[in-house]
Amino acid sequence: MLQLTSQPLTRIKAENLIVPVCEDRNLFQTPAIKKLAASVKTIKTFAAQAGDCLSHYRPEGLNVERLILIGLGAYGDLTREKLRQAAGKSIRRAWHAQPGNAVLAVPDAPLPEGISREQAFEALTEGACLANHTLAAFKSKPKHVPLKTIRLLVADPDVRPYRVLLTRIKKICRGTAMARDWVNLPANEKSPRDLAAMIIRAAEPAGVATTLMDTRQLRRHKMGALLAVGEGSRQPPQMLILDHHPSRARETLALVGKGVTFDAGGLNLKPTGAIEMMKIDMAGAAAVAAAVIAAAALGIKKRIVGILPMVENMVSGSSFRPGDIVRSYSGQTIEIGNTDAEGRLILADALAFAVKRYRPRAIIDLATLTGACVVALGDRIAGLFCEDEGLREKILQIGRDTHERCWPMPMPEDYQDLIKSDLADMRNIGPGRWGGAIVAALFLSRFVEDTPWAHIDIAGPAHTKKAQAYSEAGGTGFGVRLLCQLMEA
Ligand code: BES
Ligand code: MN
Ligand code: ZN
Repeated sequence: MLQLTSQPLTRIKAENLIVPVCEDRNLFQTPAIKKLAASVKTIKTFAAQAGDCLSHYRPEGLNVERLILIGLGAYGDLTREKLRQAAGKSIRRAWHAQPGNAVLAVPDAPLPEGISREQAFEALTEGACLANHTLAAFKSKPKHVPLKTIRLLVADPDVRPYRVLLTRIKKICRGTAMARDWVNLPANEKSPRDLAAMIIRAAEPAGVATTLMDTRQLRRHKMGALLAVGEGSRQPPQMLILDHHPSRARETLALVGKGVTFDAGGLNLKPTGAIEMMKIDMAGAAAVAAAVIAAAALGIKKRIVGILPMVENMVSGSSFRPGDIVRSYSGQTIEIGNTDAEGRLILADALAFAVKRYRPRAIIDLATLTGACVVALGDRIAGLFCEDEGLREKILQIGRDTHERCWPMPMPEDYQDLIKSDLADMRNIGPGRWGGAIVAALFLSRFVEDTPWAHIDIAGPAHTKKAQAYSEAGGTGFGVRLLCQLMEA
């Protein structure tokens, strides 16, 4: 779908030609495009502010149906995210009922400090590619369909290095799209077994080894916490292990993802208003699965193990109960204070298993874990819990680069008192609602021993109610790009 071209402007034949423009500076050096971009100055109604978009049909002297000018705002304020968003917006503008095509002109003049030409190319390409993805087809007659081809127009001498970049971006965006598709599937089409099968179907051709543990094996491994959460559903819990294992790998990174295919809350049933979106409660597992598959495609040198506990949290006569005490894989016992705090239970077993089985250099978990984290940070920023300074700073920086933003949250040791239990080693909730995201993270910390570990609470950004510049309403695939860059680092 994504291609490179360096044809002269007059030779280009396309439905849409997209040209990004700044308010106060021409971003092109190649004379023909420079002239075209400069001609915008005479259009009084188009100020080229960030987000502005102007369509010009059948422009004279060009062999294109439509010229789309996309504003970037002031040159000095340019960021990579503005480029992503502008590209995304213009691509969606080019959509119609047929699979069309577009050519996107990549700036070849110097950019403001802090943005290299490669980074600008990367941002535009990423924004375009991510925006050109739509919800899996449940509608019989879609009004708009994604473009069939997007060609990135670069100046001739640049083509070669961009080819390498393009290949990488395609693989990463493919991962984001995969994660979105899985998240967008309704819960009636993704039982833990269905989801595992879908992920295996995508992972094996990519060269990722897979191991699926069913109820029998989970019992044999004494994964009492995961099994307890699964008890109320007719769909049995599963644990899927994805292993990207290059023969020369020197270190192992473990990725763990919360895979609750539907979170009704269990006997602590969620009320109307809170239950509707809960098919997205497997977004952590989706992001991790997509990242491991991308790791294989990208040829990541490290061993990457993805550990995906998958379960449906339902209400029935066989549901686990508040007051139950379960024995986790680690041997520690947990008193159930609330069956809706299920994510931390399944992660407890997955994290302990990751530590014991793989002794990884580090563990990262992604989970739509708490509404409290959304209260704290809103729905576009993830909460990052990590006591390892090096790992934390790395994740924060990559979060800024990819615009998959994370914010550092505290893990105060004295708050551990909040999950004390009279009967068991701990309880799965605190006594009140305050600091809910922190309490959840502290609970998880009891299952990672001294392995460097980062927990990313993505309850907010995993999903968007309204379309964003390069994501439709629904799953965002948050975390895939972040994990890809982290695996490469
Ligand atoms: N899956 C939810 C968290 C969630 C909330 C994800 C909103 C996405 C959007 C999680 O399992 C949950 O129910 N958490 C409870 C914990 C509470 C019972 C301690 C919560 O956040 O209310
Ligand atoms: Mn829950
Ligand atoms: Zn949940």
